[in-house]
Amino acid sequence: PVLVVDFGAQYAQLIARRVREANVYSEIVPHTASVADMLAKDPAAIILSGGPSSVYATGAPFVDPALFEAGVPVLGICYGFQAMAQALGGTVAQTGVREYGGTAVSVREAGTVLAGSPDSQTVWMSHGDAVHAAPEGFEVLATSEGSPVAAFEDRARRLYGVQWHPEVKHSPLGQRALENFLYEGAGLRPYWNPGNVIAEQVERIRAQVGDARVVCGLSGGVDSSVAAALVQRAVGDQLTCVFVDHGLLRSGEAQQVEQDFVASTGVRLKVVDAREQFLHALAGHTDPETKRKIIGREFIRVFEAAAREVVAEAGETGQDVRFLVQGTLYPDVVESGGGEGAANIKSHHNVGGLPDDLQFELVEPLRTLFKDEVRAVGLELGVPEAIVWRQPFPGPGLGIRIIGEVTAERLDVLRAADAIAREELTRAGLDRDIWQCPVVLLADVRSVGVQGDGRTYGHPVVLRPVSSEDAMTADWTRMPYDVLATISTRITNEVPEVNRVVLDVTSKPPGTIEWE
Ligand code: XMP
Repeated sequence: PVLVVDFGAQYAQLIARRVREANVYSEIVPHTASVADMLAKDPAAIILSGGPSSVYATGAPFVDPALFEAGVPVLGICYGFQAMAQALGGTVAQTGVREYGGTAVSVREAGTVLAGSPDSQTVWMSHGDAVHAAPEGFEVLATSEGSPVAAFEDRARRLYGVQWHPEVKHSPLGQRALENFLYEGAGLRPYWNPGNVIAEQVERIRAQVGDARVVCGLSGGVDSSVAAALVQRAVGDQLTCVFVDHGLLRSGEAQQVEQDFVASTGVRLKVVDAREQFLHALAGHTDPETKRKIIGREFIRVFEAAAREVVAEAGETGQDVRFLVQGTLYPDVVESGGGEGAANIKSHHNVGGLPDDLQFELVEPLRTLFKDEVRAVGLELGVPEAIVWRQPFPGPGLGIRIIGEVTAERLDVLRAADAIAREELTRAGLDRDIWQCPVVLLADVRSVGVQGDGRTYGHPVVLRPVSSEDAMTADWTRMPYDVLATISTRITNEVPEVNRVVLDVTSKPPGTIEWE
């Protein structure tokens, strides 16, 4: 792999993704990993990421100079560039000129990484310190007002560095620079793609599972669906998927799983209709956290009972159900500390702790993948587009989008309004611009309206379209007025209980994306 050494900013994941966009496999390692640990992974190249520190601050992460003696091509970026310069005997100091944002650099000599660059280009900078003198053996390739040395290389030792962030889209030639490093600097070929991922994972899954049986909880979301489709591809009918219909899904979503997903992947599916059970458990409850707990608890109960049935059926044929599929993604693995098995706490958390006598080993075929790669793999496996491109939808579903008690009637009202909003957003081509658009029913609020010649006394629904990168922060989406108007007109005409549509114009923070 190409190793991306994480110096503690958010940039490492972005760099790793960009490397994969260049069709080269990458993995992230913490900067605390020793050179021996890194070399043990047999890296084809190493990229040192940016980070928030100053190289001469006490306790600042440093690079062991031994890394540069190993003969592995290295690219330093921003902090990684400065740390590299310092480790090899160059000088790093404060210039007094902070460079932040789009910055002009002059290219003196294109060298390897800047091949194809014009003499002057705009790049994305974010730094207070700068490299003043390049280490011995290095050629200075570019300069900017605040960076006497903005890029350098030692072609013989295959060591390269840039002060700016080639991984962000604000550096227009950034991807080109990364690819120059990978293809020319490190001599790699663009072989990594979704087809290879599938072939590799199919082999791994077969090796792990043998002839045991496997169970998977399907939610209708992207991750569990693609994980299930991969395991099905590997071990066929040894896999049983369990779909708990809790009645809190949106219009059409249960059919998507029960019909379209099954038809396109051949997965053996066990559907549990638990709609009554969930409604009964939720009756009388209005507090959001209580509703979440009830939904989580009931889900575990139902899933556990279904899993026991699968175990019993397998037992009759003398087979063992030893494995549980989890759709854990790479960002979860990185954020929970990396190493093998580190995501177990989190994945168990997803299904809720199963009882001790129902312990499974985990099969996590998406552990190395980013979300966009999961989508590409899903499409390659024939998972329906409606599932592959589904926007985020919370596990508790519509249960936390009815402000007040959840009842069957209210669910029907919200489902109808939500279906209209989704249909119009799709028609307007906005699905991929909007991160998600919760529709919220203010079930305990009534508002006066007029329809025909009569007064109405109905309920408002809230549209909450948000734009976001990762759901940690979000802004309300400036949607075209005519689309809002169509949604409003249709909902108030077609859903008799709703006589008012309002737009939520709160960013996150301070508002959360969901209302509950
Ligand atoms: P908030 O409302 O916290 O939502 O801004 C951030 C993202 O998480 C989703 N969300 C949930 N997902 N269980 C889930 O699986 C939950 O209880 C839950 N609450 C919020 C939300 O839809 C958004 O994508």
